[in-house]
Amino acid sequence: APDHSLDMVIFGGAGDLSARKLLPALYMAHLHGSLPADTRIVAVSRSDWTRERYLKFIEDRSRPFVDTHALDPRTWESFLARFDYACVDIGVAADYERLVAATRRDALRVFYLATASSLFETVCDNLAAYGLVDERARVVLEKPLGHDLASAKAINAAVGRHFSEDRIYRIDHYLGKETVQNLMVLRFGNSIFGPLWQAPHIKSVQITVAESVGVGSRAGFYDGTGAMRDMVQNHLLQLLCIVAMEPPVSLDPDAVRDEKLKVLRSLRPMTAETIARDTVRGQYAAGAVDGETVKGYQDEAGVPAGSRTETFVALRAQIDNWRWANVPFFLRTGKRMRERRSEIVIDFADMPFSIIPRGPYGHANRLVIQIQPEESIQLQMLAKEPGSGMHVLPVSLNLDLQQAMTGRRPEAYERLLIDVIRGRLTHFMRCDELEAAWSWAEPILNEWKSLGDKPRSYFAGTYGPAASSALVARENIAWAEDV
Ligand code: BG6
Repeated sequence: APDHSLDMVIFGGAGDLSARKLLPALYMAHLHGSLPADTRIVAVSRSDWTRERYLKFIEDRSRPFVDTHALDPRTWESFLARFDYACVDIGVAADYERLVAATRRDALRVFYLATASSLFETVCDNLAAYGLVDERARVVLEKPLGHDLASAKAINAAVGRHFSEDRIYRIDHYLGKETVQNLMVLRFGNSIFGPLWQAPHIKSVQITVAESVGVGSRAGFYDGTGAMRDMVQNHLLQLLCIVAMEPPVSLDPDAVRDEKLKVLRSLRPMTAETIARDTVRGQYAAGAVDGETVKGYQDEAGVPAGSRTETFVALRAQIDNWRWANVPFFLRTGKRMRERRSEIVIDFADMPFSIIPRGPYGHANRLVIQIQPEESIQLQMLAKEPGSGMHVLPVSLNLDLQQAMTGRRPEAYERLLIDVIRGRLTHFMRCDELEAAWSWAEPILNEWKSLGDKPRSYFAGTYGPAASSALVARENIAWAEDV
C-alpha cells in the first residue's frame, strides 16, 4: 500500500450506490491490504445521524453485499473503525465546517460524489470555499454526468474551476471490469488479431449489455433517465471505443483517452431519418424471468402512469473513419431481458469464394468476448464433420478466463477506487470524451422526445421488441442468441 494517509469522503454515503457497491468495494480493498494503512472514510449525508447510526446502516445495508467468504469478524471490525460520519446538507455552506473538522490537511483527500450530478457544482464550490481543495485533493464523479450536452459541459466547467483535469476521476464502472480491460490486451497484446481488426475483414460488431433485473427500487431516478442516458451514452459507448480505437501510443491516460475520443468524434451523427430507421426504443411489459412472473415497467413502484421511458435501446451506429468504413456497430441494452449477459460479438467477413458447402452456417467466423456473467472468449469456426463427404459443423475454441487465471478478481468498483488512490487515470473518462459522447447521443434523445416516441413494448424475459431483430436482419445478421 502507498505510504501516505488517505481521507475518503463519500457524498451520498447513505445512498444505494454506497450501500451496494462502494462500501463493499472498500471493504475488499481493506481486507486485501490495498488501502493506505492510515485510511479514514468519512460518509456524508443529510440525515442527522450519529456515527453509531451510520455503522448500523453499513451493517444492514452494505454487509449483505459482501461475499460471505470474505467476511471475517475482526477484519470487519477494523473496517468499521475507519469510519466517521458527517451530516452535511450539500446546499448549506456552514455544514462544510464538519468536513474541515473530519479531514486532515496532510492526507490525500478523495471526494467521491455519489449524488445527483446536478449537485456537483455546489459541492465543489463549497469544498473550495472551505479550503478543502488543494493539490492533495481528488474528486470522483459518478455517472450519469448531466442529462444532455449543455448540462455535461456545465458540470465539467464547474468542477474544473476547482480541480485540474488530472485530479478529476469520471467513473464508468464498465472500464473497471476485468474483461473490458482484457479487451485491450486481446487487441494490442496478440499479433494475430491486428491485421483482421478492420474493414473489410470485419462484417459487423454487436455490443450487448442485457440485464435480467428490472428497475427495482430506483424508479425515482430511472424514470427521468431511461436506458439511453443510463447505459448507452456511457457504458456502451465506452465499450465501443475500446473495440474500435486505434492502438494508443502507450497506456498513459491521455494516450488511451485521445484514441477513445477520436472514435467518439468519428461516430456518424444521426439524423431524423437514421433515427427512425436505425434506433429501437422498448419498454418491458409483464412477463417471466427465470421462471418467475414479473411486473411490467408501468406497474413498478414509483413509475408514473403512462411513462414513456425506455428500458431498452437497440441501434445501429456507424464509425466514419478509415478502419471502420461501412462496418455496422449494433448496440443493445435492456432491463428484464431473458438473462444477464454482456458481450461483444465480432462477425468476420465472408470468404470471397467458398469451395466448401457450408449448409446453413452463414457466418463462419465469429469472435465472442463475454464480459459477464462469465468471462470468456470464444472463436467460432467451421470444422469438418467426421466421416465421408465434406460436411461442416460450427465448433468453437473456448477460453474460459476464470479457469485460465485463477487469481482473485476484484469487482470493478474496487479496482477503480484503487486506481483513484494510486493516481491512475487511464480507466476514467476525460472531459472531452464525455462531451463527445453527449454530442452524439443528444440528437437521438431530442428526436425521440419531439416525436413523443412511445417505446415498443416487449415481454419481460425476452431479448426486446421484434423490431430489434429486424434491425440486424436487414443486413443479414442475427443477434448472437438467435444463431
Ligand atoms: C449502472 C446503471 O450504471 O449499471 C444500472 O445505472 C445498471 O441501471 C448497472 O443496472 C449495470 O451494471 P452491471 O455492473 O451490473 O452490469
